[in-house]
Amino acid sequence: MFNPASRAEIDPFIVMQMMSDATKREAAGDNVLHLEIGQPSTPAPKGVLKAARVALCNDKIGYTVPLGMTKMREKISKHYRKWYGIEVSIERIAVTTGSSGGFSIAVLSALEHGSRVAIASPGYPAYRNILKSLGTEVVCLPADAKDRFQPTVAKLEKAGKLDGLIIASPSNPTGTMLNEKAMKKITHWCQTNGVRLISDEVYHGINFRHRPISALESNPDAIVINSFSKYFSMTGWRIGWMVIPPELLTSVERLIASFFISAPTISQFGAIAAFDCIEEAQKNLNRYTLNRDILLNQLPSAWLDNLAPADGAFYIYANVAKHTNDSRKFCKRLLTEIGIACTPGIDFDPSRGHATIRLSFAGSSKDMMEACKRLKAWL
Ligand SMILES: Cc1ncc(COP(=O)(O)O)c(C=O)c1O
Repeated sequence: MFNPASRAEIDPFIVMQMMSDATKREAAGDNVLHLEIGQPSTPAPKGVLKAARVALCNDKIGYTVPLGMTKMREKISKHYRKWYGIEVSIERIAVTTGSSGGFSIAVLSALEHGSRVAIASPGYPAYRNILKSLGTEVVCLPADAKDRFQPTVAKLEKAGKLDGLIIASPSNPTGTMLNEKAMKKITHWCQTNGVRLISDEVYHGINFRHRPISALESNPDAIVINSFSKYFSMTGWRIGWMVIPPELLTSVERLIASFFISAPTISQFGAIAAFDCIEEAQKNLNRYTLNRDILLNQLPSAWLDNLAPADGAFYIYANVAKHTNDSRKFCKRLLTEIGIACTPGIDFDPSRGHATIRLSFAGSSKDMMEACKRLKAWL
């Protein structure tokens, strides 16, 4: 008999399971508050929808060249000048099938089979799964509140010989960010130690304390991954981009051509307009700011008081050790007893996530108020 390849033996994405359980309860008539899924509850900006409609009527929507439409890459290049004050030439920009498409291309192009790649734990579960299935060894760096749940040079030094490092600022699930000094320390350490740096910047724009810092500002060799999914509220359009160092350009172009041909054309037409829709994106940001305030102010009086400092993204990572030692069971009870869907920490940190949960505040402010009310009454 045939079996799945051992490379496909990866952990489940628990948040997806939570979403499906929540949807089943809703179908059975329960009122469920969705604090599990990390996606905006708003559609793409109006300008994006208009550009896509125009393209549907006037363009044949064929393939594009593998690295993406020139206009799209020009817009991204301008974005780096405007947001970060740095020059990124369009030759170094590749449009990808969501940032998820960018990750597999980054690992395939830059890291040998068997490479040792570090990630912070807790961290986005797909990093582990992508790295493992592509034949690299995942080195988890246990991160904690005192380091804002981010990797540090001290931890990297202790990790043994490394070939790569993935960082995310703001991070999922903690929302914590690297400030300019911390980012510089990490990027310089990677440069001096010959460690390939992949910087996940998909939550840039959703930040509450200080501006987002790109790894490119202090390390032009970094591979940067970004997306239209979060700040521009375009998850289902499956469109993102990567910035690549010159030595990887040919490999990245060939890999994209062979794996994907090109990123979705209709989404490229839409995304070209996204950078002109900042006003709408900022309105969403105002809502996330309000939602974050609601949760940070009210969760402590609902006995959830050990919270990661949510600098950006739309997540609160809560330590629930005083309530449970089994976050999966705890989330199940939250769903069945008070209709709140959230994600157990084991999705992000298999060894220590039994005592943590992640709450997403990407939904409506009304839902956040109601969630706090239900939690106060229940806990
Ligand atoms: C940290 C992080 N990186 C990447 C992604 C993937 O985003 P997309 O493929 O939609 O660009 C997500 C999605 O939740 C995420 O949280």
